[in-house]
Amino acid sequence: MTSPLLEVRSLCKSYDEGRIEALRGVDLSIDAGEYITISGPSGSGKSTLLQLLGGLDTPTSGQVLFRGVALGAAIDLDDYRVHQVGFIFQAFYLLPTLRAIENVQVPMLAVRQDANNRARRAESLLREMGLEHRIHQYPNELSAGERQRVAIARALANAPEILLADEPTGNLDSVNSARIMEMLIGIQKERGMTLIVVTHENEIARSAPRHIRLRDGLRDERTEP
Ligand SMILES: Nc1ncnc2c1ncn2[C@@H]1O[C@H](COP(=O)(O)OP(=O)(O)OP(=O)(O)O)[C@@H](O)[C@H]1O
Ligand SMILES: [Mg+2]
Repeated sequence: MTSPLLEVRSLCKSYDEGRIEALRGVDLSIDAGEYITISGPSGSGKSTLLQLLGGLDTPTSGQVLFRGVALGAAIDLDDYRVHQVGFIFQAFYLLPTLRAIENVQVPMLAVRQDANNRARRAESLLREMGLEHRIHQYPNELSAGERQRVAIARALANAPEILLADEPTGNLDSVNSARIMEMLIGIQKERGMTLIVVTHENEIARSAPRHIRLRDGLRDERTEP
């Protein structure tokens, strides 16, 4: 039997010397190419789970396995983050002093690649996001929807297998929100990527083939099919 792409086993994460238990034993298995949404009340542990899945932080106990191998043990976390994961955040987190085309190249700096190739790839990703006329703009010269599209291009820079999005439409109006979700789902389908979206919006949560909910740091099985 082949291993799932990502597997979470008894995942616990506490902060503040154990005073805050953000995750209290989550189990989850995600196959390659799946699109899954995660919702739940504020403080239920959604961002914490996404950060652990993306190797941005390490669990207090339990494991995240990538293709059956534990992150942080046999797989180096930096390596995993750079090559396997693209992250998209609600607040975009573009670097304000870099142009769009330079922002997209930031993850590529961790990978050996010559400057011409980097710039060509960044331009082609921005074109794919419909931003060919905006490649030399700074973030503050772009609309919120355009900034998020730059952030998506950046997430794709190193052709990762997994796309993690933490409330990617949280700062967008409904038109841009629909457009960004359409793009993410299109990318997931075309590239066969695994897409995991944390969202507060029921419509987005329910539109995915698989939707899970968290509550107080645990899977809320009552609301799952
Ligand atoms: N770095 C941190 N230090 C201390 N406590 C934290 C930290 N990060 C998160 N927490 C706490 O852990 C719990 C889960 O937080 P998390 O950010 O994962 O929730 P969330 O479901 O993403 O919430 P929201 O919907 O508001 O984004 C909360 O009680 C939060 O206050
Ligand atoms: Mg959050």
